[in-house]
Amino acid sequence: MDKILARYNELIALIEKYNQEYYVNNISAISDYEYDQLYKELVKLEETTPEIIITTSPTRFVGDVDNSLVGSDKKIEHQIRMYSLENSYSRDDIIEFIDKVKKVVNATVKKIEFVIEPKIDGAAVSIRYKGGVLVEAATRGDGVIGEDILDNIKSLGVLPVTIEDKGEVIIRGEAYMPISTFNKLNIEREAEGETLFANPRNAAAGSLKLLDSSKVASRGLKLFLYSLDLGRRFDNHFDDLKYLKDLGFPVNENCFKFSETDDIMDAIFEIEKIRDELDDTLNNKLDYELDGAVVKVNDYAIRDELGHTSKYPRFAISYKYKSESVRTKLLSVTFQVGRTGAITPVAELVSVQLSGSVIARATLHNNDEIKRLNIRIGDTVIIEKGGEVIPKIISVDRDVLNIDGREIEIPTVCPVCGYALANDVSGVKGYCINRECPAIVQGGILHFASRDAMDIKGFGVKVVEQFLEHDLIKDISDIYKLDRKKILKLEGFQSQSVDNLLEAIEQSKTQPFHRVLYGLGIKHVGRTATKLIIKQFGDIDTIMKATEEDISAIYGIGVGSASTLVSFFKDEINIKIVDQLRSNGLKFEKEPDLLNKTALDRTFVITGKLSHEREYFKDLIESYGARVSSSVSKNTDYLLAGSDAGSKLKKALELDVKVIDENELNIILTGSR
Ligand code: IVH
Repeated sequence: MDKILARYNELIALIEKYNQEYYVNNISAISDYEYDQLYKELVKLEETTPEIIITTSPTRFVGDVDNSLVGSDKKIEHQIRMYSLENSYSRDDIIEFIDKVKKVVNATVKKIEFVIEPKIDGAAVSIRYKGGVLVEAATRGDGVIGEDILDNIKSLGVLPVTIEDKGEVIIRGEAYMPISTFNKLNIEREAEGETLFANPRNAAAGSLKLLDSSKVASRGLKLFLYSLDLGRRFDNHFDDLKYLKDLGFPVNENCFKFSETDDIMDAIFEIEKIRDELDDTLNNKLDYELDGAVVKVNDYAIRDELGHTSKYPRFAISYKYKSESVRTKLLSVTFQVGRTGAITPVAELVSVQLSGSVIARATLHNNDEIKRLNIRIGDTVIIEKGGEVIPKIISVDRDVLNIDGREIEIPTVCPVCGYALANDVSGVKGYCINRECPAIVQGGILHFASRDAMDIKGFGVKVVEQFLEHDLIKDISDIYKLDRKKILKLEGFQSQSVDNLLEAIEQSKTQPFHRVLYGLGIKHVGRTATKLIIKQFGDIDTIMKATEEDISAIYGIGVGSASTLVSFFKDEINIKIVDQLRSNGLKFEKEPDLLNKTALDRTFVITGKLSHEREYFKDLIESYGARVSSSVSKNTDYLLAGSDAGSKLKKALELDVKVIDENELNIILTGSR
């Protein structure tokens, strides 16, 4: 008995630790499978020796510790409890589930239908409409009480604000961050010296709970709705899903309905196949992560008969896919210097195939990660990749002998310039503070020319490296003083390519002020912050004179950004660079304010081939305070359509959305002809 009790307490301690790490610290120390094994062992122990059960056992309640509730007073009690799902991993588990369902259900029902749908890896949300209006949105929280996220959900612009159904309706679904958005966000965060999100799920959960709704909007979260829990229209889930779609909600298209076990298993594997499909560039076709399939009884009456356990519904189960992982060997660790000077350890690996692409490097995030993994050169490591997310090292396979075993040396000086490193605030990353460090200089120039900043085509790594090496440029202001003859002398440059490059540089002078300011690469001042600052101050002189207090008073700007902005413009060298850029004709003030009130609060969708890239029109529209959404719905006010517009145009015509061209867009935005 003592042994059983000891194991019981050990299991509870372990599960609580992992819950805490997973839900509060956003770390997955073990795989879902390993977690479930521990959990199942605990359930078994409690079944065989019920006298040991304690009331605070993780099996007794929906045990997720939800950090959204820490310190938040905007709590919402769910009218209908939000349950979690039991996990399964094999065909046998699914057969067992189907058998249990059949046993409980009235014998007269011959065929029981099941709906099989993707399990989206994001954060659960519950939304409520009343009188056709979106009135409530909440996180799951502990299943009973969640956090109010109505403003944040509204700011995403992915849900209809009003619907035709005028009754009280509660819908549940999953908010997720598209993989491409996640990758971009982390690149931005890395550049700005902020901690990275471990995966799209954490990024989605974290973004949903931001206090500043305007920031949430820029995180680009999307939603899939997967259940209608109040105000049901039909007697079954599948028809209600279609109904939700008709109301204008995003519903995942890969939902299937079957009765036979074989068909159900096929559907589960079909969804896995869809998850793993690659496009021509070997990236995943689906721009979101799904970690399994959910099998649900279709008929609501049967669901009622089945009911719930304390934690899970008995009418649904999730089937978790094993995320693809592979073993390889760690050859060395290099330390990369980012444009902000942050040093990131990168694992150099023996190349292996993983999820359709060849992997030779994986990120180690920071020095703490090296310690946590206790990793050494020559170790056999297990790497994992979800979607197109940068692969990461999950663990070290200690069963494989490592004859090398050298410790990874954390540098104390910059690997590029040799300058002594400073530590960041959290102490997990080193920083090079030498502003002349070639890596920082090169990173800064590349950032300035990058797509989201000045968008200078052809001004990539190779070109910048060559220009720096031959002293053609020293900082960003030199880009506008490049000498055609000098470039032509460099290897690999022909007359035409030089002309193209110089033309692209010339063109970039017309970029709006917010791109120039963002291009300066001020730490903690991202794209959204840049736009907010410009909206407030208008031009560079006023910005340069602004105090930390003036800046941090702007809604949506943090104290960190305010202080780095002020110290950036105190620096003589930066002031000189700005002056030179200005004398070269770059824009340093906001576009004339032709704000037309009618453009505000309008939602635009952009499609087809236009005279500039989509991003250009997106910036333009947003600079007038209007919104750009990626798909046409009843809430779309205008579809800006270029040539070769396809399905979006069709949808706009179906929904009676006004279709406009570039001229009309200008008229709408500026209110002038
Ligand atoms: S149904 C009563 N369907 O998975 C059952 N959940 O592990 C409620 N999830 O908290 C859930 N995709 O956030 C359902 N198609 C889907 C889902 C889904 C993702 C999430 C959901 C839930 C978690 C359970």
